[in-house]
Amino acid sequence: MNLLITADYRELSQAAGQLVAQALLHDPDAVLALPTGETPKGMYEALIRLYQEGLVDFSRATAFNLDEYLDIPPDHPQSFSAYMRRYLWDHVNLAKDKVHIPASLPEDPEAECIRYEELIRKSGGINLAVLGIGENGHIAFNEPGTLWETPTHVAVLSQETREREAQAFGRLEHVPTHAITMGIKTIMRARRVLLLASGEEKAGILARALSGPITIDVPASILQLHPNLTVVADRAAARGLAG
Ligand code: PGA
Repeated sequence: MNLLITADYRELSQAAGQLVAQALLHDPDAVLALPTGETPKGMYEALIRLYQEGLVDFSRATAFNLDEYLDIPPDHPQSFSAYMRRYLWDHVNLAKDKVHIPASLPEDPEAECIRYEELIRKSGGINLAVLGIGENGHIAFNEPGTLWETPTHVAVLSQETREREAQAFGRLEHVPTHAITMGIKTIMRARRVLLLASGEEKAGILARALSGPITIDVPASILQLHPNLTVVADRAAARGLAG
C-alpha cells in the first residue's frame, strides 16, 4: 500500500486530481471508476482545472460510476448522475458514449446489474477505481455485511447511510432505500485503487480499514489485500494510522 498523507483537504484534492491525471497521461484509454460524495468534489475541481489548462484529456477515457440510487429519476438533484454532471461530466471532454452509470429507474434492477457488470468487462476492466470510505466502512454502496464475492448488485442502504443523506433529501423518508452498486468483487478486480479520506470523522474507520482485521463488518478492510492500493488521506483522517 502507498500511503500519502496531506496537510489538508485542499492538498488531498490536488494530489488525487494529479494521480488521476497521471493515469490518463500514462494510458489515454484508461477505464476509470468514479465516486460521488463530499470527499471527491475537490479532486474533480482539480481535474477540471488540469483539463482547462490542457494538461489532461478525457476524450479516449471511459468512466463508470461506482453506484447510483434506485427509484429516483436521473434528473433528481440528489441523483448521482446529477452530481456527476455538476462536478465533472459537464466540464471535461469525456465522450458521452463512454460515460456509464447504473440506471436509477430500470425496469428490471437485477438485469441492470448484469448489464453494468458486463459493460465493465467488455471495456477491458477498470484500470483505476477511485473510492471514498463511509463512516461505517462502506466502499461504494457495499455496506457492512456485504459478501466479498459480490459483483454489481442491488444494495439495501444502511440506516446510517440513509440518515447521513436525510438533510440532502429534505427528510429521511425521502432518501432512497436501495441503490445499484459495483460489488466488492468488481472493485477488487480494478488494476489500481485510489482510496480518499478526509476529516477527523473518518480517522477511526480508516484506521480500522487499513490496520484492523479484514472483515465484512468493515467492507473497506478488503483493500488491504489489493495489490495496488494508494491511500490519500489528510492529516485529520490519518490521525489513527500512526502508531
Ligand atoms: P463522503 O462519502 O465522501 O461524502 O464522506 C464517502 C462514502 O460514503 O463513500
